[in-house]
Amino acid sequence: MPQNDPFPHYIEFRHVFKTFDRPVLVDSNFHVNPGETVAIIGRSGVGKSVTLSHIMGFLKPDSGRIIVAHEDITDFPEAELRRIRRKVTMVFQSGALFDSMTVAENVLFSLELREDYDEKNKEDVVNGLLRMVDIAEARDAYPADLSTGYKRAVAISRALAAQPQCILYDEPTTMVDPIMSDHLGNLMMRLKNQLRLTSVVVTHDLDLMYKVADRVVFLYEGGVIYFGPTADLAKSEHPHIREFLELDRVV
Ligand SMILES: Nc1ncnc2c1ncn2[C@@H]1O[C@H](COP(=O)(O)OP(=O)(O)O)[C@@H](O)[C@H]1O
Ligand SMILES: [Mg+2]
Repeated sequence: MPQNDPFPHYIEFRHVFKTFDRPVLVDSNFHVNPGETVAIIGRSGVGKSVTLSHIMGFLKPDSGRIIVAHEDITDFPEAELRRIRRKVTMVFQSGALFDSMTVAENVLFSLELREDYDEKNKEDVVNGLLRMVDIAEARDAYPADLSTGYKRAVAISRALAAQPQCILYDEPTTMVDPIMSDHLGNLMMRLKNQLRLTSVVVTHDLDLMYKVADRVVFLYEGGVIYFGPTADLAKSEHPHIREFLELDRVV
């Protein structure tokens, strides 16, 4: 960490604007401190995944600055972004697993590029990663044999193989049963507490938000209408936030 670090936050959006056919991000401001978990919530189509794509550098803002891993990545060329993506990794909703490989082979694949391990070491690391996400018993199964929740756990263990500082989760519990959702939430907490991982989780799942998030970014029609502690979200008087929280209570 350089001294006099100009970017104390691990991730920061400073006045970020992005328009496609309509404005999606409109003066978006929020930050994520090292070791912290921030949830991004809001209705479908409001710009949650677009926000994650900006953090990964897959999309560039029309204006504003984006800080990731304590660096201003806004104008970074692809080579610099690849360096950042070794620190910050994304777990896709689909899991993006190789169907022709077993669970263990999928995780091993991510280790192949690491030169600091020999074969025996890699085997131990794969087993350790699978234990970390509680799926050691599925090591020889193929993705097609696994439930959605298990596939997400495999995707998380594969992401961890790269030893990231930060994980971005896009809707990790969508289409997962409540028990597995709870399990994924516990897993995210373990990664935070044991590995001190920083994370951003896009979710519709308020149970997950309350469980894992230190702070919440609430998006509504492009704008951040709430950025603050999870515990204070329920005190918000904003009619859209009230409606969102109350709808969840009845379904
Ligand atoms: N690469 C893109 N090109 C054009 N429009 C996009 C692109 N990515 C997302 N959008 C649009 O931006 C809006 C927000 O999308 P998204 O962030 O995926 O929503 P969500 O909050 O459900 O994750 C949507 O209207 C979507 O169609
Ligand atoms: Mg999305």
